[in-house]
Amino acid sequence: MNKITGQKKTILSGMQPTNNLTIGQYFGALKNWVELQHDYDSLFCVVDQHAITVRQEPANLRRRSLDVAAMYMAAGIDPTVSTLFIQSHVPEHAQLAWILNCLASFGEVSRMTQFKDKSAQHADNVTVGLFTYPILMAADILVYNADLVPVGEDQRQHLELTRNLAERFNFHYSPTFTVPEPFIPKVGSKIMSLQEPEKKMSKSDANEKSTVFLTDTDAEIRNKIKRAVTDSGTDIVFDAAKRPGVANLMTIHHICTGRSLAEIESDFTGLGYGDFKEAVGESLVALVRPVRERYDALRADEDGLMNTLRVGAEHARERARNTLRKVYKKTGFVEL
Ligand code: TRP
Repeated sequence: MNKITGQKKTILSGMQPTNNLTIGQYFGALKNWVELQHDYDSLFCVVDQHAITVRQEPANLRRRSLDVAAMYMAAGIDPTVSTLFIQSHVPEHAQLAWILNCLASFGEVSRMTQFKDKSAQHADNVTVGLFTYPILMAADILVYNADLVPVGEDQRQHLELTRNLAERFNFHYSPTFTVPEPFIPKVGSKIMSLQEPEKKMSKSDANEKSTVFLTDTDAEIRNKIKRAVTDSGTDIVFDAAKRPGVANLMTIHHICTGRSLAEIESDFTGLGYGDFKEAVGESLVALVRPVRERYDALRADEDGLMNTLRVGAEHARERARNTLRKVYKKTGFVEL
């Protein structure tokens, strides 16, 4: 509860529609959102405006935005409980972002490590949008006065910038924005690449065998697990530093079955990698299949999906408009 308003605290989060979602995003983020939505006033968006900070094929972007919205629901985001919407449907994010752009200093934004990484990856096309990406993210959060922002560790610096901008606005004008807290899961259910288990599993990995997507078929999942890189050992013991491949599969099995790592070790004593991988494959198939089936049904009904997104955008806009009205006034813009 918020001590001042006595109401549920607000959470907001979002993902970019740049590819299908992976089991890493499901275990690391979506599953948490689904659990949080009942205890918080929750908003979840598909951040299509963030996606265009690097070049996108328009038809892909359009399709993927709907894919991701449907996947949120398939994973358990209930649009009658949470506000589910697409970022570009709520123009107030971009409007607030401009004002925040004029409050942020070039120097502080230049320190963002994600920009440094991404601009190295896209060296041929480093857009101003990529630079100012974290300001739009700050606007996503501040326009709803979110108290908590469930994100991965890699977004901590962006959250810190968001907090600084909120405080700066509140100080220069008058108290307006809630200063948000990051909400980072403690024991990260961090899933690693199946091919290079020292690296995080990524939806944009060039090697498809590294990543299990929530849209993968049963056969694809079994296959990817079967081919996952392990190491030259033979027994099933958890050692993330020395045997990251086996450790990653154990983590996946642990999440899918609820068996502890110690129980998994004893379950597989005397058995080899073949048996173990088969079990992991089956447990993952059992977890992903119902999500994929719900997704297929939701995605097939595009009218229904659009209606859900329309309702979500209306809810979101009502709130965002309210904040923006105050912000415009305090900034000194003439009211019509
Ligand atoms: N930058 C986030 C990521 O890559 C995505 C994002 C955009 C986001 N806006 C947000 C996350 C607002 C939380 C809140 O993961």
